[in-house]
Amino acid sequence: MPQIISSEFPLIRKRRNRYTASIRSLLQETVLTTKDLVMPVFITDDSVDCPIASMPKIKRLTINSLLKECEELLRLGVIAIAPFPNVNNQHKTNDGVYATNPDGILPKALREVKKRFPEMLIFADIALDPYTSHGQDGIIDEEGYILNDITVEMLIKQALICAESGADFVAPSDMMDGRVQKIRENLEKNGLINTGIMAYSAKYASSYYGPFRDAVGSTANLGKSGKHNYQMDCANSDEALQEVALDIQEGADIVMVKPATIYLDIIQRVKTQFAFPTAAYHVSGEYAMLEAAFANNWLDRDKIILETLTSIKRAGADFTFTYYAKDAAKLLQR
Ligand code: PBG
Repeated sequence: MPQIISSEFPLIRKRRNRYTASIRSLLQETVLTTKDLVMPVFITDDSVDCPIASMPKIKRLTINSLLKECEELLRLGVIAIAPFPNVNNQHKTNDGVYATNPDGILPKALREVKKRFPEMLIFADIALDPYTSHGQDGIIDEEGYILNDITVEMLIKQALICAESGADFVAPSDMMDGRVQKIRENLEKNGLINTGIMAYSAKYASSYYGPFRDAVGSTANLGKSGKHNYQMDCANSDEALQEVALDIQEGADIVMVKPATIYLDIIQRVKTQFAFPTAAYHVSGEYAMLEAAFANNWLDRDKIILETLTSIKRAGADFTFTYYAKDAAKLLQR
């Protein structure tokens, strides 16, 4: 900074650039748009939509409702969804093999959405937790330890089914080692060279996923078990860079940091270090926390939504998975 010596104080007034709304908008560094938003959606094979207690205003949708939701999202300028299934308990097994069933609720939903709205981008979650009787993301041994390599074998089949059913990106959220490479190889082998991989690379073992587990129905199955021997410790930051580096090497097209607002430092480090397409996930607990405050009129809903999502983008996220995608799009249209 040049030093300005003067008897007049102050010559430099940073507030000049904030004087009017026009000047402020001219100089705005981060501009949030609807293209920054991906809407996670829950789907059910029940015949009616079903509310989720810990996620006010969010419902598990039937395929028909999902199609209506897609229509509305596209009208609002939101061009991407991330569907998550709540499958009936009768389909859940130790190995989560229902994840590879082409007639399962998720592949069915992917085909329907792609048929009606080919322009809608779809991120299909790759992990076994909605399909396992124990709620873990992988296959477990007698001690309950999640087995890496046989889980990966299942994941590559799940990814192939999702890709064949119309997913633009498969999104492994399981945190098994080496899965990005194996998924990539299998997609190539099957000619799906343009299906991308968005890797949940720096995914923390976060307690902010609680409401999501209610939504996909894995809370009770998971019981008191945690996911700490595959998801990351919230105390670690260098390790996130190692995970991201590996996923890029293995062929990921996009990497993700999750959760978002309490991990803005990780988003920024990842973006700065790799200059690679980087997504963030504003997760269910971050949503639930804000909803609780909004319900009490403790925070201004509209302003907080935009401030939150702008901050995630400012930290370095190219786009954000957020349950506020629709709300934010409506606010941005005004
Ligand atoms: C499943 C998965 C989870 C989320 C996305 N994919 C939960 C978990 O890992 O337990 C969380 C999303 C959210 O909380 O909104 N592997």
